Amino acid sequence: MKLKFDYNNMMRDAIGKQGLEESAFDKHAKDIQAAFQTVMDNRGKGWQEWCDLPFNQNEIVEEMLAYCGEIGKKADSFVVLGIGGSALGPLAVASALLHLHHNELPASKRKAPKLYVEDNVDPERMAALFDVIDLKTAYFNVITKSGETSETLSQFLILYKALKDALGEEEAKKHIIVTTTIGKGTLYRLAEKEGFKIYGVGAGVGGRFSVLCPVGLVPFAVLGLDVKALLKGAAAMAEACYIGDVRKNPALNSAFLQVMAMQSGKNISVLMPYADSLKFMADFYCQLWAESLGKAEDINGKTVHTGQTPAKSLGVTDQHSQVQLYTEGPFDKVVTFLAVDEFRTTQVITDDKAIDAGEFLKNHTMNELINAERKATEFALRKAQRANFTITLPTVTEETVGELLMYFMYETAFAGAMLHIDTFNQPGVEEGKKATFAMLGRVGYEEKMKEINAAPKLEKFII
Ligand code: PA5
Repeated sequence: MKLKFDYNNMMRDAIGKQGLEESAFDKHAKDIQAAFQTVMDNRGKGWQEWCDLPFNQNEIVEEMLAYCGEIGKKADSFVVLGIGGSALGPLAVASALLHLHHNELPASKRKAPKLYVEDNVDPERMAALFDVIDLKTAYFNVITKSGETSETLSQFLILYKALKDALGEEEAKKHIIVTTTIGKGTLYRLAEKEGFKIYGVGAGVGGRFSVLCPVGLVPFAVLGLDVKALLKGAAAMAEACYIGDVRKNPALNSAFLQVMAMQSGKNISVLMPYADSLKFMADFYCQLWAESLGKAEDINGKTVHTGQTPAKSLGVTDQHSQVQLYTEGPFDKVVTFLAVDEFRTTQVITDDKAIDAGEFLKNHTMNELINAERKATEFALRKAQRANFTITLPTVTEETVGELLMYFMYETAFAGAMLHIDTFNQPGVEEGKKATFAMLGRVGYEEKMKEINAAPKLEKFII
């Protein structure tokens, strides 16, 4: 394991009564062990198929590297159509590992196609996409585990028509890769009929836990990222998560600390990367934590309305926006910093003798500055007795990103088990999906429409 986890500032020694007493680990040992065992017992089974993804995809990875590698060579743009778990993992990983202005690089310097992750149905955004891509050299990955999601299906229908108009039917088909559940759903049926290239999402791999299956791996292979190193990192973290000792297993440790913090009123978990490359990792984390832990009922059907609200923040940018609140506002947050030891480039702050400004900055590097600012924020939070936690990546690579993804997924699974909830369902999201089908007149959703229409009349408007 290459990542380091620093939980000092979650503890009473560092932040006084806002922190956890060391004895809490022993006091709750039984509950921690029970949660650990639940997750371990289900590894590779049911909705925990994601646990095995670093270990069981050798064959498909080879095929994918060959097929998607060819697409990567031909494509000028690669467009992901998907939403939620079918978009945020690909976006987080690609943003971490590609050039920070990848799409703007001149073609001679860009080693992979431009990437667009289209995870909304804003008509202006769809039109804007068509303004910037050339359909002749654009390839599309339609990702939906269920194969039924209105947003993704609508994007697909618009796109397929445009592609057929531009390229003719036979050529259009070659520009589409579908990632969905094999044998199930509208998109699968369509893909089979039309003869698109299809990759499968395992039955027990939920959307937000799917980044290490073809949902993420197909785009990564097209973009020329080192898929094997990503899985290697994920495997190393998975093995670290098999350790039963809460002081040694990073995901078990932070799941426990977060659950304890939450139960003492810290109901907001802020993820604050100090690296632009990791900015979208916070979006990935927010979905994972929110959709997995925000539940009305526990596994016994008892009403609990539990969950900790995730929030994203970016260091140092949000030091000038959010940190005032984190330091002096309510004691309702845990701030998790994502730190990077070695950035992939160094920027020396120029010592220009002609300019007499910023004497203290001269001859330092931006690398030193960003890490000094992170440590300074950590210091300020600790001084103000605010719970905080630091995860350090030695550098941002496929391997460390793979570790981080697996860590977040195990942390979520352990936290869900500690809260005695079903971590892997999302009844709240499903309800909205069904209501959308009803409002668009989908056959079979007539009762849902009646329910919607039976809602009290809305009268309170200011116009
Ligand atoms: O985590 C989840 O299950 C959800 O966020 C889904 O990923 C999201 O709703 C999209 O679903 P689908 O992949 O079926 O289109």
